[in-house]
Amino acid sequence: MKMESHLAQIGSVKEPVTGAISFPVYQATAFRHPQLGQSTGFDYARTKSPTRTVLEEAAAQLESGDAGFACSSGMAALTTIFSLFSQGDHLIVSLDLYGGTYRLLEKIMSRFGVAASYVDTNDLDGMSELLQSNTKAVLIETPTNPLMMITDLERISAWAKSKGLLTIVDNTLLTPFFQRPIELGADIVVHSATKYLGGHNDVLAGLIVTKGKELSEQMAFLHNSLGAVLGPQDSWLLMRGMKTLALRMERHQSNATAIANYLLEHEAIEDVYYPALPHHPGHEVQNKQSSGNTGIFSFRLKDARYVEPILRHIKLIAFAESLGGVESLMTYPAVQTHADIPVEIRQKIGVDDRLLRFSVGIEHADDLIADLEQALAAAKREIGEA
Ligand SMILES: Cc1ncc(COP(=O)(O)O)c(C=O)c1O
Repeated sequence: MKMESHLAQIGSVKEPVTGAISFPVYQATAFRHPQLGQSTGFDYARTKSPTRTVLEEAAAQLESGDAGFACSSGMAALTTIFSLFSQGDHLIVSLDLYGGTYRLLEKIMSRFGVAASYVDTNDLDGMSELLQSNTKAVLIETPTNPLMMITDLERISAWAKSKGLLTIVDNTLLTPFFQRPIELGADIVVHSATKYLGGHNDVLAGLIVTKGKELSEQMAFLHNSLGAVLGPQDSWLLMRGMKTLALRMERHQSNATAIANYLLEHEAIEDVYYPALPHHPGHEVQNKQSSGNTGIFSFRLKDARYVEPILRHIKLIAFAESLGGVESLMTYPAVQTHADIPVEIRQKIGVDDRLLRFSVGIEHADDLIADLEQALAAAKREIGEA
């Protein structure tokens, strides 16, 4: 069966008593034991909870993994994953990384003796130089947020395997509809399901999918022991969003492609960072390993003075953090999502004061272009270039 059909049917054949097409919200934390030594399979909701289980099984199946774990946020999912590591362990991590993941590694995991080094995860020489006897894993975002750098997952996970390292991939931006890292050799996939999977800017959630029995058992132990699990209402809401993932991703992609091409031609824009564009350095690898493109991209203005008036003049597009929802949002990574990354690193990778990130929603592309057009024209007037 194709992914579209799996998505539309999440949970719809699982409820045996009433035949409800929408799987119910089991708002219960405790489950009666039939007898001493017997269980219905559910004992206590932190360990296993019926609505969450349906979501977790769907996630594992969509990502071609063996087990899924739903968490209370993407950061909760990353915290659970990082708890696989112990004092003295070392990780190799994508240089252009979501700011919250960087903050978790540098301000919290470092206190527990887990160190991280940051590198362009396409640069095998650079990665080999960072390799230490205590290196345990590689963490990759592809595309990266916000600069949309692409890593060749098959090549890097084969390298990691040859060095005995785990490959962890943050697949938030593409979702399993467009990219399945486990099929390309990854061991663990993580999502901020708050983004495209939920899709409506209304549920905070994280997902982990693991490959392999031992790793899946370790993750189940950590998920239950740390307890950053997703509640039944949010599990239901996330499944409800995921049912339309295929339709939404296709629309996000076509809108983002049209708007990226429009901005590329605009006189106020220096460059547009979107892997669907043929001049993007990751274009070919992206086409090889993914069946489509995400709905977010970043663009660099020629003049930093444009930023403030653009953010003030956009009307249909909201000036807000987050990404992946049906509503279009624009953000300023250097002062918002990536503020916790030291300025030297931000400058090195290009997250500077001229960069804006655009999460293109599912509105009509013409309306989004018209909104950008008027905001750019107003900004130009205000800085005296009209
Ligand atoms: C790529 C990526 N990973 C992880 C996260 C963290 O997810 P959450 O906000 O759901 O905790 C985010 C949030 O923006 C993200 O963009």
